[in-house]
Amino acid sequence: MRENPRILLFDNDDTASRYFMEELMIKGNCSVSCASDIQAALGDFSQNSFDVVIAKFGKPELDTPGFLKALKKIDPDCVVIAFFENDNPGLLREISKLGIYDFIVKPVNLEKLFFLIKKGVELHSLTAAHRKLMQGFQEQSVNLQKQNTLLAKRIEESTKNLVRLYEDLRSTYMRTIKALAQAIDARDHYTHSHSENVAKCAVLIAQELGLSANETELIREACELHDLGKIGIQDSILSKPSSLTEEEWKQVKLHPQTAAQILEPLTFLGAVVELVRQHHEHYDGGGYPKGLRGEEILLGARIINLADAYDAMRSARAYRKTPLPKEEAIAEIKKNSGKQFDPKVVDAFLKIADKLPI
Ligand SMILES: [Fe+2]
Ligand SMILES: [Fe+2]
Repeated sequence: MRENPRILLFDNDDTASRYFMEELMIKGNCSVSCASDIQAALGDFSQNSFDVVIAKFGKPELDTPGFLKALKKIDPDCVVIAFFENDNPGLLREISKLGIYDFIVKPVNLEKLFFLIKKGVELHSLTAAHRKLMQGFQEQSVNLQKQNTLLAKRIEESTKNLVRLYEDLRSTYMRTIKALAQAIDARDHYTHSHSENVAKCAVLIAQELGLSANETELIREACELHDLGKIGIQDSILSKPSSLTEEEWKQVKLHPQTAAQILEPLTFLGAVVELVRQHHEHYDGGGYPKGLRGEEILLGARIINLADAYDAMRSARAYRKTPLPKEEAIAEIKKNSGKQFDPKVVDAFLKIADKLPI
């Protein structure tokens, strides 16, 4: 038994209480407090910490069942030993539902009582420790949940910020490259707005062919950048009014590859790079740089090739001061269906030709 088990004695029989107190204090080395009514007992119990409560049963004026209910509300783990004046199996059955630890009957066997107190103290100490542990777990669990929620929110915010940063970065890159592509168009006043016009025509064809919004957007971006590689061609070649020499043609034909090399490191461009690389490939395999043919060429690149050729015919060039009239340019496209151009793309082009601004 612990050094001084703290016992609360609930009984209105002064003689019995005195007897218990003496025995418990002297022989049991207990610290004992007595109360003879509910209010006093509950007051004492809430202010002081008791290991075991010994409660008298069988006295209606004490209302011990009511006392027990109130007691369990204050300390659900409290250990109660019931005390009866006489053997009373009916009452014992009734109070066993109240969470009684054990019982003693007059005449009290002190050895048994001390044993019950010893076990009761251990039980109270264990259940209290267990409850404290569980409370600790629950608090930790609540804290962990709070931290998890906080962490999830931070991750969500960080992800949003990263997405925003990525979009900003992508948009800045795109603006820079487009500005560069426009600057290249502007190098030659004949090709001013060329990329923009090609994009308008190619988007109309793509839509006519039922391509998705994403695919159409990739084509539009590729159009805006398709001649970026002309940065590597000398002005004298770009604006040469007469036919190009073989060597000069070699330089011109490098521009799809040069553009692809410039754009390749920008991984966010994805398929745009390949569309740019293939924009001079011909349906019949007569184009450059690889001489791809038919379905080997990306559909987007076949569309851009046609839109590019149409705008070239409809614009003044250094080698041809007057643009071809619209009907002639359309006729030229038709004539080259199945040769330079994919017939399917030509058909779509013919359907949207009226909508073209030039
Ligand atoms: Fe080109
Ligand atoms: Fe072009």
